[in-house]
Amino acid sequence: MTHEPGSREYFDRVASRWNEMRRSFFTEEVREEAYRVAGLASGKTAADIGSGTGFITEGLLEKGLKVIAVDQSPAMLEELRSAMGSPSLDCRQGEAESLPIDDGSVDYAFANMFLHHVGSPPVAIEEMVRILKPGGVLVITDMDEHDFDLLLTEQHDRWAGFARDDIREWFLGAGLLEVEVGSVGST
Ligand SMILES: C[S@@+](CC[C@H](N)C(=O)[O-])C[C@H]1O[C@@H](n2cnc3c(N)ncnc32)[C@H](O)[C@@H]1O
Repeated sequence: MTHEPGSREYFDRVASRWNEMRRSFFTEEVREEAYRVAGLASGKTAADIGSGTGFITEGLLEKGLKVIAVDQSPAMLEELRSAMGSPSLDCRQGEAESLPIDDGSVDYAFANMFLHHVGSPPVAIEEMVRILKPGGVLVITDMDEHDFDLLLTEQHDRWAGFARDDIREWFLGAGLLEVEVGSVGST
């Protein structure tokens, strides 16, 4: 198994503080918009990729979905398990480029603030598309291009956000249809 140098160690180190930290980066508005565009249905299965401590997972469980949460960081997953342990939750340690989830097995894949950490965003997107059932939905919430160098140095971000045209191209290249790229209207 490979991982981005420094990134796993960083998230292992901040895991117990992540729920507090993340509030200064993004709000609940982000996940509500992600759920809305996905058109969630109770009883379906969702993957939360780069789940961290379960910001996205939490709402999915509340809405009656089964969730497979994947993260490179054992400490982040441990925080998630101890906060939200449920028969509907399956936590798996894994990497962006080789997700520990079968082909065509989930109805939805979510990835919040994860893509800017991976070495190859198009490969990570292809991998998330691989696990979707036919007709499944991928929802990625991440940053527009920015110049906050601190995120690259302190948080081990690999990408200073993304150009929306690149995201569209990568989604289409991975075989997705009906691609929408827009703003959540939050920071
Ligand atoms: C900024 S945090 C976001 C966590 C969570 N999605 C949230 O919204 O609070 C990024 C997460 O992605 C995970 N991550 C980063 N690179 C990864 C990779 N290559 N494979 C798997 N997980 C990764 C980190 O361990 C971390 O938990």
